[in-house]
Amino acid sequence: MGVPVGVDAFTGGVFCFDPWALYQAAELTNPNVVLAGVIGQGKSALAKSLAARSIAAGRSVYVPGDPKGEWAPLARAVGGTVVQLSPGHPARLNPLDVTGTDLAAGQRLLAAVAGLTLHRDLSAAEHGALDAALTAATGRGVPTIGRVVDALSTPGAHTARADGVRVEDRTADGRDLAHGLRRLVRGDLADLFDGPSTQQLDPAAPMVVIDLSALGSDEDALALAMTCSSAWLESALATSTSKRWVIYDEAWRVLRQLALVRRMQAQFKLSRAHGVANLIVLHRLSDLDAIGARGSEARALAEGLLADCSTRVVYRQEADQLTATATALGLTCPERDLLPVLPRGTGLWKMPHRTHVVHHLLHPAEMDVIDTDAAMRDEPGEFSVPDGSSSGGGPRAA
Ligand SMILES: Nc1ncnc2c1ncn2[C@@H]1O[C@H](COP(=O)(O)OP(=O)(O)O)[C@@H](O)[C@H]1O
Ligand SMILES: [Mg+2]
Repeated sequence: MGVPVGVDAFTGGVFCFDPWALYQAAELTNPNVVLAGVIGQGKSALAKSLAARSIAAGRSVYVPGDPKGEWAPLARAVGGTVVQLSPGHPARLNPLDVTGTDLAAGQRLLAAVAGLTLHRDLSAAEHGALDAALTAATGRGVPTIGRVVDALSTPGAHTARADGVRVEDRTADGRDLAHGLRRLVRGDLADLFDGPSTQQLDPAAPMVVIDLSALGSDEDALALAMTCSSAWLESALATSTSKRWVIYDEAWRVLRQLALVRRMQAQFKLSRAHGVANLIVLHRLSDLDAIGARGSEARALAEGLLADCSTRVVYRQEADQLTATATALGLTCPERDLLPVLPRGTGLWKMPHRTHVVHHLLHPAEMDVIDTDAAMRDEPGEFSVPDGSSSGGGPRAA
């Protein structure tokens, strides 16, 4: 059932995977997949193969943020679209495109972006200010972030009164928000997301990749850009129920951002109705722990995100991750003992009712478009990352 992935190490047979069919057959509780493994083990290669082979089977694939710029060759090879976002480049996406038909989507997006730039949750009064500003900006056609910032700085007296708020208070409520959102209007991300989109999303495109490699290694900028570009892609999902993958390669780089995790989880919930299977790529399951202390709301969100991925594919793990991984996934002792010795391209596929050890087979014809990471492999630090930095801490080099 599904596209061929590789060889089942126990049976020697071909292992195939189709999250939609398995979900329909009640073998999975949701179609989403988490893929974890140390650097260089073949996670991206597996994700790209799944993408290419699924496209051959009639599915489509979205990559809302490609931080290393390694997905473009595959997108081009399958006749897909690559949007390269880079300061000084003409391409721009308006994440508020969808707002004309779905005000709530615009509100969620702005709340996430403001939360990311301010590094905190918004107060109820701030949510009120943001909603009023978005409504005001929408009154004049498709809103842009710049117009929302203007509306935050000079709120409408009429709307404020209708909401039972003094206009001075509303201005004060919007001050931090305007400051935070301005990063997308005049800051380092200016021109990428503020203004009308220069790209039309073709819902029939087999693959759409948003290349964020020009943003470098600033994890905040990456999280913001990823949030905005995924919002832009959502506008296509809103009108489609055709089956598609949404792939977050290198997701560990952005998942310590609470606002992004919250948004991702909301998307996961919505996406099932739209036929979407999400794939998130981490180094280790404890990447999700970095988001907050045990027992916190943030941690609960991260745990929820993991629970929302009923297929867990684990590639080689460092020794200090074995217990945590085994506990999180309910691995048996023999399964746990496999984790530190899995060779490149081989993973433990854990599904609710069965487990497989699968060696992913790359077809020679796929190599050209999949193995585009050669330059990256020689990057200093790529293999010298101390993998003992299990949880918490600052950004890691990779
Ligand atoms: N199943 C496989 N068979 C052979 N080579 C592979 C396989 N998977 C990955 N590779 C090679 O290993 C290298 C690292 O793979 P990559 O997918 O970039 O790793 P990761 O994303 O886990 O860091 C690439 O050169 C890739 O071509
Ligand atoms: Mg990779």
